[in-house]
Order: sequence, then C-alpha cells, then structure tokens
Amino acid sequence: MYNIAIISGDGIGQEVMSACEFLLDKLDINFSFKYGEAGFDCFNKNGTTLPEETIKIANRSDAVLFGASTSTPGEPSPIINLRKALNVYANIRPIKSYKGVNCLRDDIDFVIVRENTEGLYSQIEYSEDNKMIAERHITKKASKRISKAAFNLCIKREENKVTCVHKSNVLKKTDGIFKESFYETAKKYPQIKTEDYYVDAMAMYLITQPQNFDVIVASNLFGDILSDESAGLVGGLGLAPSGNIGDHNGLFEPVHGSAPDIAGKNISNPCSMILSAVMMLDYLGEWETSNNIKSAVEKVIADCKIRTPDLGGNSSTMDVTKAIVQELI
Ligand code: NAI
Ligand code: MG
Repeated sequence: MYNIAIISGDGIGQEVMSACEFLLDKLDINFSFKYGEAGFDCFNKNGTTLPEETIKIANRSDAVLFGASTSTPGEPSPIINLRKALNVYANIRPIKSYKGVNCLRDDIDFVIVRENTEGLYSQIEYSEDNKMIAERHITKKASKRISKAAFNLCIKREENKVTCVHKSNVLKKTDGIFKESFYETAKKYPQIKTEDYYVDAMAMYLITQPQNFDVIVASNLFGDILSDESAGLVGGLGLAPSGNIGDHNGLFEPVHGSAPDIAGKNISNPCSMILSAVMMLDYLGEWETSNNIKSAVEKVIADCKIRTPDLGGNSSTMDVTKAIVQELI
C-alpha cells in the first residue's frame, strides 16, 4: 500500500485532481490518500498558503500529488515552498508530440530538467531607497546536483545529449557557476554529448529545431519559462506533466496553474494531471500500470473524439477521464 499526499489547491487544481483520483480508484493498487490544504482558498481559511500540517502530510507520504494554486497577493508561493520543504530539487518536465494533436512537429520528444531550490525563485525581495531588489542565488552544489540529475535522466531515457541553458554572458557570476558546474559534471559522463545555449537563443531554437533536443537543464526561472513555451509546441498546458524528484520524496503536478479563465466549468484537460500520476507510478516502480495508463491517454487523444476545448473538442474533464478509464478496462 502506498501513502499518497493529495494537495489539490484551487481553481482547476481541484477539478483535475478529482479526475485523477477517479482514475486511481479504478486501479488494482492500494493507495491510502491523505489530504493537505494549500493555496489561495487555504490562505483565506487559515491565514497561510502552506500550513505546517500540509508539509507534514507530504513528508510522511511515499509520494505527493499536487494540483495547482492561485497566487495570493503578498504571500509566498505554496508550491515553490513545498518543493523546497521536501527538497525535491529536480523538476522533470517531459514534452512530447501526441498523435492526433496539432503539434508544431510530430517528432518532438525532450525533457526539461529545471533546478527547483534556488535561482530567481528564492522569493527574497526587498526595497532599498527607491529600488526594488530580487535576489538570485545560484550555488555550485545545487548546480552540480541538477546537472547530475540531467545526465542520469539522459542515460535512463537512452538518449545521448544534454543541453545546458543559461545567460552567462550577462549574469557572469550566477550563470557562470551554473555553466561551469554543468561542464564539470559532464566529465563523468564522457559518452554523452553536451552543448549550451543562452536562454534567449534557446527560446528560438525550441521553435526552429525542437526535434534536436533530448535533455535540457536550466535554472529555476529559465526552466519554468521554457516549459510553458515547450508545452505550446505540442498542444498546450493540458498535455504537460511534471515530477519533482529529490533523494527522499517525489511530488507530481501538472505544469499548468489554476487557470481562473476556465475554472469551475468542468472543461479543463485532465491529461496533464493524469500523466503526472503516471510519472508518480513510474517513481513508485509500478511500471506496468503506468504504461497502461499512458497508452490509454495516448489512445483517447489519438481517437480525436473525446477531448476538451483546449484540444479543439467539446467534452468535459470527466468525459475525458471516463474515456481513459474505459480504455484501461
Ligand atoms: P495557467 O497555467 O493557469 O493558464 C495558462 C493558460 O493555459 C490559460 O489560458 C488556461 O486556461 C490554459 N490551461 C492551463 N491548464 C489547462 C488545462 N489543464 N486544460 C486546459 N487549459 C489549460 O497560468 P496563468 O493563467 O498564468 O496563471 C493562473 C494562476 O495560476 C495564477 O494565480 C498563477 O500564479 C497560478 N500558477 C500556479 C502554478 C502552480 O500552482 N503550480 C503554476 C503557474 C501559475
Ligand atoms: Mg510555470
């Protein structure tokens, strides 16, 4: 039996999590779900976006599923703080073309490995005289750790190239150390090709030659921005899952946010959340089940009959979820 922490958050976080739980309940695997609060609704109720109790539930679990949360003015981001609290330092974001989806190309298959614990998302901001300052912390330790995660993932995926993204021509110290740590780590993986690009050029290459990338490693903010751009290459955020992996825990969540523009309408695409649960099952070693769910999702998407409006259909979140479950039976 697996202890799974469920933190739905708010907005479509709750809708896609309900869909995901509906599917998990249909599997031949025993889960014990423990529920934690986080996000905007949680702040209005408890005065904090991430209660200690939620961190405890997450820490005691075998894995965490997170939905999405709406940002709360003046308050820290619960998901950024939860990733830090669990020390899940590697944010793994696979991007792939699915059959039946209007993608930029049909041979896109890469993964972004985003550093999760530092960078411009330190949330250390203050004012000095009339100046607003945001601190960008980059350490050699975290940079080497994320590079190592990227090279190991490259081996696991049986691919042969890791691309490092940075802006060391301008951010000479912080991104200087990020790039240097990447190449130092690369020495231990002589069989893997390496390359590095400035983030602005990379934003263009992702559009002009996305088929040429295998594993991309980036600092926190750059990795975040390139993830949404990459999702746009393959049909949007409804198809972009992620896993946050540390040495002792894993937290799985869609790349998207709480989507207030479509929240409450039961039209959000549940695939990114369900594919995040697939990543969780892989992490837990339940490979057969994870492969079956992945195939079921691919089949429903390829059929083009039951799909949410973001993919051009008019089905609901639950219609899509039930179609995926139907494929599993
Ligand atoms: P968003 O990711 O929520 O939405 C961007 C666009 O993608 C919207 O048009 C939305 O309708 C669409 N979209 C996202 N997920 C979808 C899905 N599953 N199915 C169909 N369409 C989908 O980003 P946005 O609008 O910039 O931010 C909304 C709120 O979410 C903000 O309060 C932001 O701070 C928060 N946010 C939270 C994150 C998290 O909890 N991990 C991550 C990103 C943003
Ligand atoms: Mg993001």
